[in-house]
Amino acid sequence: MTKKLHIKTYGCQMNVYDSARMTDVLLPLGYSVTDNPDDADMVILNTCHIREKAAEKVYSELGRLNRIKARRNEQGSDMILAVAGCVAQAEGEEMMRRAPFVDLVFGPQTYHALPEMIARVSRAGGAVLNTDFPDEAKFDHLPEVSGDSDTIDGASAFLTVQEGCDKFCAFCVVPYTRGSEYSRPAADILNEARRLVDLGVKELTLLGQNVNSYHGIAADDEEWGLGRLIQATGEIAGIERIRYTTSYPADVDADLIAAHRDVKQLMPFLHLPVQSGSDRILKAMNRRHGADDYRQLVQRLRTARPDIALSSDFIVGFPGESDADFEGTMTLVREIGFIQAYSFKYSPRPGTPAASLDNQIDEQLKSQRLKILQDELNSQQRAFNESCVGRTMPVLLDRSGRHSGQMVGRSPYMQPVHVTAPEELFGSIVDLHIDAAQANSLAGSLNNSTSNPTNKENENAA
Ligand code: SAH
Ligand code: F3S
Repeated sequence: MTKKLHIKTYGCQMNVYDSARMTDVLLPLGYSVTDNPDDADMVILNTCHIREKAAEKVYSELGRLNRIKARRNEQGSDMILAVAGCVAQAEGEEMMRRAPFVDLVFGPQTYHALPEMIARVSRAGGAVLNTDFPDEAKFDHLPEVSGDSDTIDGASAFLTVQEGCDKFCAFCVVPYTRGSEYSRPAADILNEARRLVDLGVKELTLLGQNVNSYHGIAADDEEWGLGRLIQATGEIAGIERIRYTTSYPADVDADLIAAHRDVKQLMPFLHLPVQSGSDRILKAMNRRHGADDYRQLVQRLRTARPDIALSSDFIVGFPGESDADFEGTMTLVREIGFIQAYSFKYSPRPGTPAASLDNQIDEQLKSQRLKILQDELNSQQRAFNESCVGRTMPVLLDRSGRHSGQMVGRSPYMQPVHVTAPEELFGSIVDLHIDAAQANSLAGSLNNSTSNPTNKENENAA
């Protein structure tokens, strides 16, 4: 009898990728995937520790799952309850105390050892904790990507090329939960990319906590940076779109900028977190870039790829942030213009340097600043969406819409585009006329001259 597996994923895209790879590890053990935790034999919460709210969600979900587990036990069956990801890594022992009914707590570097850990749970009859940073590389021991897990979403897939972070921004837990930087060898990445193309993938997003600090060994024993890797990925037949995330401004080098100029599949949209527009705060954050460095970098990117658009991350209310510092952020936002962004109130994370600073900002002030910033960012996003009306854009149709006959796709700028289109266009890149804009999405239509499913994006670029 097959056992059922349910994985719930929180947080970043790297967690989405990791959940798919955990599925790839577990399918050969006889598991099949279920959307419903109620009838699962194994539930894994793949957790996020980046802000306090994200971490707290995990404990309330665990309480709910414990009740399901108790009900299953009463009925004479069992459920293995496991916690993976960054909360597991950061709070392993505390979690075993706070939620003693959890069977397995394991960190992001141990996913390849899941079969062995599950066997230990069955043998031990008690909880198992594994938050090691093992010597062997996880990626060498993970099975090949399968088409049966959620690795592929429509015709789009994530591919992790780099993990960990050595930057130690003063607010951030990632260097502690994900460990130090590791880059996968280029050949492994390119093989995985080819395999994904065989499975029907057209759009690839290269992932890393600091993806552009990638420095992997290539076949010729040379070290490749991200620019070189993107170039090689673009040479794989069948890859029609390339994206990468998340990048660190100080690590953008000339090769990467050249890739934006030369690699036709590299989409003209870049998530480039700045965090603040005040040099004083950026220094206190240990960011290694000033506000003007960021401005100049954007200028160089725009020169290389004039149609490039930017997205970013912001933190308001970092310890010591004055009105003038915050105004510096607003000035930068108005100058650069972002088509999309994530912004957060600073959340003190235990163990990070900024958490113990004594000039913490009042919550109410943080909320006020966040609102001002988000109003500006939202209006920039809306203005960009509106500027797309009347244009024709290549859209990768990779999701069904809510109504029958409707599909949703992604523009080059990651905007969701709703369209009524025949089913056979699913999974292809189609030129759509943009008819209307909403705050977070666009509505488009097929126009007759371009309604065939050939890939206009490539034709135009060829
Ligand atoms: N390079 C990373 C970024 C880390 S977390 C990546 O993998 O995407 C994503 C964003 O969360 C950061 O860019 C930052 O804006 C925000 N963030 C991180 N720590 C935070 C904290 N303590 N409080 C508020 N926001 C935080
Ligand atoms: Fe975090 Fe800064 Fe690294 S935001 S992931 S420590 S670059």
